Amino acid sequence: MKRELLIPRITILDRVKELARQISSDYAEREPILIGVLKGVVFFFSDLVMEMTIPSKIDFIRAASYGSETSSSGTIKFTKDVELPIRAKPLIIIEDIVDTGLTLKQIVKRLESRDPESIKVCALIDKLERRDEEVVIDYCGFQIQEGFLVGYGLDHDEQYRYLPDIYVLR
Ligand code: IMP
Ligand code: MG
Repeated sequence: MKRELLIPRITILDRVKELARQISSDYAEREPILIGVLKGVVFFFSDLVMEMTIPSKIDFIRAASYGSETSSSGTIKFTKDVELPIRAKPLIIIEDIVDTGLTLKQIVKRLESRDPESIKVCALIDKLERRDEEVVIDYCGFQIQEGFLVGYGLDHDEQYRYLPDIYVLR
C-alpha cells in the first residue's frame, strides 16, 4: 500500500495548540480528568496536555475494536480501564479518530455509569464517511470525509504509529 501525506506535523501542532487554548479556557479552575483512549491517541494526548495552561489529571482506557482489517469489527473489548475515581468529576475523553462512533459510544456509556460531573469529547479527527452511532464531539481537530489514516499514533495493523505526520493509505 502507498501512503500520501495528508496533515503535516506543523499543521497538527497548530491545531492542537488551538484546541488546548479552548479547553484551558472552558475548564479554567476545574481540573478536568483527561482520559486518553489507547493506543492511537498517545502523541496527540501528550501534545495536547502539555499545551494546556490549566492543571489536569490524566488517565487512560483501552478499547480495542480493530483487528488487522481497515474496518470496525463491531465489537468493543475493554482491555484497560480508568483507574482514577471519576465520580462527580469533569471528564474529557481524548480520542484519535471517531469513525463509526461505536467505540466512543461504548466508552461514554461505560464512564457515564460511574456518575461523573460531566463528560466531553475531544477527537483529533472526525471521519464523516461511516458514522453509524450518533456521538457528540465537543472539540474536534480535523474533519475528513474518508480514507484510512496512519501516523502520529494512528496505525494500520500496528504499523506506522511512529510517523510524525498523518498520511492516508491508498
Ligand atoms: P469507531 O468505533 O469505528 O469509531 O473506530 C474508532 C477507532 O478505530 C479509533 O479510535 C481508531 O483507533 C480506529 N480507527 C478508525 N479509523 C481509523 C483510521 O483511519 N486509521 C487508524 N485507526 C482508525
Ligand atoms: Mg482509537
